[in-house]
Amino acid sequence: MRLLVCGAAGFIGSTFVELRVREFGDEVTVLDALTYAGRRENLREVESEIGFVHGAIEDPEAVAQALDLAPVEAIVNFAAETHVDRSIADPFGFSVTNGQGTHVLLEAARERGLRYVQVSTDEVYGSIETGSFTESSPLAPSSPYSATKTGADLLVCSYFHTYGLEAMVCRGSNNYGPRQYPEKLIPLMILNALAGDHLPVYGDGRNVRNWLFVEDFGRGIGHVLEHGVPGEVYNCGGPDECENLEVVHRILELCGADESLIEYVTDRPGHDRRYSLSCDKLKGLGWQARTRFEEGLARTVAWYRDNAWWWEPIRSGSYREYYERHYGRSLKA
Ligand code: NAD
Ligand code: TYD
Repeated sequence: MRLLVCGAAGFIGSTFVELRVREFGDEVTVLDALTYAGRRENLREVESEIGFVHGAIEDPEAVAQALDLAPVEAIVNFAAETHVDRSIADPFGFSVTNGQGTHVLLEAARERGLRYVQVSTDEVYGSIETGSFTESSPLAPSSPYSATKTGADLLVCSYFHTYGLEAMVCRGSNNYGPRQYPEKLIPLMILNALAGDHLPVYGDGRNVRNWLFVEDFGRGIGHVLEHGVPGEVYNCGGPDECENLEVVHRILELCGADESLIEYVTDRPGHDRRYSLSCDKLKGLGWQARTRFEEGLARTVAWYRDNAWWWEPIRSGSYREYYERHYGRSLKA
């Protein structure tokens, strides 16, 4: 297919683009604002095969420029501000990118008659003590991050109902894998364990997340793009759930680091206890997660161990200030 992929210099978008170019021969233009989370290096495996426009999705001129670079049949939107803690500390940018940015892309898709996939999150449903959310569960987001993602999902659905746009939403559970920015739980804990820094566990560490290997999410989004029914939402969850504390213990073991590095810190305000998705609808389209958590986590730890070139510039750059601001302590040099 011929695609405009927005936000593909980040973690999941870059994995999706690699997969689509390598396995499906797709022709891809990337539009990305290259925020702290976006890096050209993330696309280096396919750099010579894709078009790239540096710009923001909330800027209609940048979107038009990206759509004019090469013919496009569909837009897949990954571009977002994605970290819950940053959305609590500084929420306004989340409305602009996640809300307004999505709206600009929807208008461009409507004007040009393009298919559209919105990449979304299980966090739009809020927390669930037992059982799993289906696509018809009520939306009850808790953080400014998930609230702005929910608003975007609703706009996408409105463009189907009002204008007949061929638009779908794909909601993923917590992703992990190579090239994830180390503000998120798994890469943060891996890099801290390798460096001998403390591992900051929020609250009692008993919150549960449903872990999805990033390649499985990329394939799920591809399934929705190719086989999804316009106007529909598809959940894409991982095969395994795990308490945070167990994730941290597994990482310590894989890194050969000591449990004494664990440090319990003040809980995140409004911290969701558990996320869980039922994915029968997407399985009905032929998708299935291939990677169990044990295998995916070992692959992820090995990748960070072997790719210091990727994370050293992050850990020695502005991430250090973010870390000090947020955790009130410095990372080791
Ligand atoms: P990420 O933070 O790694 O990357 C975000 C990308 O978007 C970066 O390349 C950044 O430069 C770009 N971007 C940010 N603002 C932009 C703007 N205004 N215009 C253009 N580009 C902009 O994010 P990720 O973890 O790869 O997540 C991608 C998508 O998947 C997001 O929409 C997120 O909500 C969703 N999602 C993430 C997870 C997860 O666990 N990480 C789970 C489910 C869904
Ligand atoms: P995170 O990776 O931020 O994803 P999300 O909040 O979107 O699920 O966090 C995953 C879980 O890990 C969540 O319960 C919060 C917890 N957590 C910590 O305990 N310590 C940390 O330093 C971070 C970043 C997260």
